[in-house]
Amino acid sequence: MYGCLNALLRNPMTFWTEIAVKYGGVARVPLKGRHVYLISDPKLLYDLLVTNRNKYRKNVRYKAAIDTFGAGLLLNEGEAWKRQRRITQAAFKPSYVSEQMPAIAARSRQFLESWSIAAQRHETRDVHKDFFDLSQILAGHYLLGPGFAAIETEFGAAAKAIQENWPLPPRNLIALMMPKGKARERRLDAAIARIDQCLFDYLADQRKHDFSGCGVLEVLVHASRAQHDEFDDQSLRDQLLTLFFAGHETSATSLSWIHYLLSQHSDVREKLQLEVARVLGNRLDPTPADLDQLDYTEQVINESLRLYSPIHSISRVALEDDEIGGYRIPKGAMIYISLYATQRLPNIWTNPDVFDPDRFTPEATSQLPRFAFIPFAAGHRNCIGVTMAMAELKVVIAQIAQRFVLDLAPGHRVVPAAGTTMHPKFGMQMRLSSRTIPS
Ligand code: HEM
Repeated sequence: MYGCLNALLRNPMTFWTEIAVKYGGVARVPLKGRHVYLISDPKLLYDLLVTNRNKYRKNVRYKAAIDTFGAGLLLNEGEAWKRQRRITQAAFKPSYVSEQMPAIAARSRQFLESWSIAAQRHETRDVHKDFFDLSQILAGHYLLGPGFAAIETEFGAAAKAIQENWPLPPRNLIALMMPKGKARERRLDAAIARIDQCLFDYLADQRKHDFSGCGVLEVLVHASRAQHDEFDDQSLRDQLLTLFFAGHETSATSLSWIHYLLSQHSDVREKLQLEVARVLGNRLDPTPADLDQLDYTEQVINESLRLYSPIHSISRVALEDDEIGGYRIPKGAMIYISLYATQRLPNIWTNPDVFDPDRFTPEATSQLPRFAFIPFAAGHRNCIGVTMAMAELKVVIAQIAQRFVLDLAPGHRVVPAAGTTMHPKFGMQMRLSSRTIPS
């Protein structure tokens, strides 16, 4: 009755990868008395996400997501989504991201300053926790402006409580059958109430000067006002919380995986350090022009996102009967897209499990099939934050490369686990050392 459910619950990344490799572009998989369809061939992903996109909607897997984020960009559909996307787009276009980067770089440098003493003493710490804190601060700053500093601690604590009490999918059949913990639900509700209070107070305060200098918040208010349909506080709350949660955990886990991979490939790390030193000299805060020149750093980020895509899978529901790759997809069917599996297909990627940033040189990239590399998804529901995410990752990686060396703590177990993102199950214990900034 439960088909392949147990294997899926245990490890969705390897489960989908094995099916994609064994059965090819479209696979019909029995799960819990019904069939779901895995589409993994890049050409067929194009059909699904672009050509036939109107025949599918997003599959909102968890009720908690709707309860928490309401009518935000990630979960909305139809005309309401289109309007939100149009308005929000202005806050993520390259010129706007560039304008915000000096403030983001300064805040990131200030945060990393707190590593100095630990690095002089070669201390070991869970950098995954640090990357979480840093990503929260940078996302908050970008979304709400420098005024976020005043609410950073309260907002961050409530966000962490939401994460800790989030109802994650069960990881085995016994857990699947257990009743949901009421205490956990209560703690989640309390944390949401805290973050809401914090945000609504912030909105009331910033409204006094019409949200001037409030980052994305200012853009959202002014762009919606220009359309004579200004977002009210509830809509602003839904948008901002959606962006905050969509934007920080993904960046945090990316930073953990990137620094893990660099620690395992000292030749790549050295090459990256040399590039950063060449482009930045002795400066710690990269400018937008510097970011454009960090080509090898970008290759390293891309190769890390290929192997450890923070969002390992996405799903869709068929709104009508369709045909993909010659297979009939019935109305109501659930479709899975495993970014993890597609990005490791052996017919596209030679030695797919090997970390090799040279897969992303401009020449190599030009040979890649479209939609073979989609860590930010693809089509009209792709990630709105991709430019901001890449800029932020480059800033933090460059600042770390200038000042620190991160080595995996001996004996630390690194195990990818599925949660809201694909994260290191036991954190990322790394030993910090200092580097001298080139003079
Ligand atoms: C490395 C970092 C990131 C990765 C890997 C990533 C990945 C993704 C993926 C795979 C999706 C598609 C989800 C789906 O179809 O179910 C998505 C959507 C989205 N992302 Fe990101 N993301 C990142 C950073 C960000 C940032 C920084 C923001 C904003 C601050 C953001 C905001 C969003 C939003 C709002 C959506 C929904 C877009 C829509 O449906 O119109 N993401 N992201």
